Amino acid sequence: MKKALKIAGIGVLSLVFGALAFAGWAMYATHIKLSKVYETHRVEIPMPFPLSEAEITALREERKAADPPPSPEAPPIDYLEGVDLNAIAMERAVARGQHLVESRFVCVECHGANFGGGTMVDDPLVGQLLGPNLTLGKGSRTLEYTMADWDRMVRHGVRPDGTPGLMPSDDFVGMADRELSDIVAYIRSLPPVDAEVPPVSLGPLLVVLCATGEMEIEADKVLSHPVEHPVDPPEVAATAEFGAHAAQVCTGCHRSNFEGGPIVGAPPDWAPARNITPHAEGIQGWTYEQFVAALRESKRPDGTALREPMTKMAPYAAKMSDTELQGLWAYLQTVPAVPQGK
Ligand code: HEC
Ligand code: HEC
Repeated sequence: MKKALKIAGIGVLSLVFGALAFAGWAMYATHIKLSKVYETHRVEIPMPFPLSEAEITALREERKAADPPPSPEAPPIDYLEGVDLNAIAMERAVARGQHLVESRFVCVECHGANFGGGTMVDDPLVGQLLGPNLTLGKGSRTLEYTMADWDRMVRHGVRPDGTPGLMPSDDFVGMADRELSDIVAYIRSLPPVDAEVPPVSLGPLLVVLCATGEMEIEADKVLSHPVEHPVDPPEVAATAEFGAHAAQVCTGCHRSNFEGGPIVGAPPDWAPARNITPHAEGIQGWTYEQFVAALRESKRPDGTALREPMTKMAPYAAKMSDTELQGLWAYLQTVPAVPQGK
């Protein structure tokens, strides 16, 4: 009897030690991964993007039409004299940036509607991943940011000091230089917010997922495939070309081939992503109107409601123009049909 107890005791102790050793290893391995210093390209991107030749021509024509030359023989007039082209470029960039963050790039979901800080995940098991303050107020993390820093963080997941940032940068890799520039122009135009946001702290689940490589560091994801950022985005149109560009933000959850499946590192109450390819297990047979209802009203064709986190897309899809949605739809018709991801 005594012997059996002793053996059981040793069993329990070794389990406890085993668990402690595993926890220690996981914390250490995660610490090493989060201290790694990454190198990426460093590009300087203008902010705001200068007006295009076509925009300048249109401005000149507009002013000429408003104030035509007195006679054909009159000396040529410089219709752009005294016009602050940079101010006009900035005004347009801010407006475009506002549309981008309200419709296609969900920065405010984690950084707050005023960009003063917000919540990505706050769960004892998963961890506390708060979106930092991106305005110029007290507690700003971007006060010293150059455009190269914005590029490295947003599109590569690398902070200015080279360490990896835990934000879904892989979703933003395909963002065009001009889109990034427009978003920064918009964020920089916002009133400063004073808010100190605590740094990211991982819960036990993320520590283990990170240590075992189950959850990949975003910078590793980005740098593991060739990174190409277009300078200008494709023209907004109801085309597969524009749709392919816009659909890049869906891949973080629906995966790069849109097969869907469980979302790695997601809070327990998140549904697995659905297949959105033209497969029988996907959106084969859907109409465009049903697709729009799924995006804007979180409603499936059979009338049932979509669940978290897809419901979060509804306010953004509501701000997407019909043309933008038509582009997404056109593109999803062209992707290879594959079964539901596991
Ligand atoms: C899903 C949530 C989420 C989304 C969406 C998101 N972020 Fe973040 N962002 C975070 C988190 C969390 C951090 C903190 C990461 C860290 O410290 O490891 C962060 C950090 C940053 C930083 C770095 C601040 C620093 O500490 O240097 C910048 C810049 C940034 N985000 C910009 C953006 C922009 C621009 C967008 C939209 C295109 C965006 N983020 C979208 C969650 C998000
Ligand atoms: C944050 C993660 C996330 C993002 C980003 C996301 N989705 Fe989803 N989506 C989901 C989840 C999860 C479901 C399944 C919800 C359910 O089953 O209730 C879903 C369901 C759908 C459905 C319904 C499919 C069906 O069969 O019911 C469509 C359509 C869809 N998403 C399209 C998109 C498009 C297009 C984008 C990009 C513009 C996008 N989603 C971005 C997570 C996401």
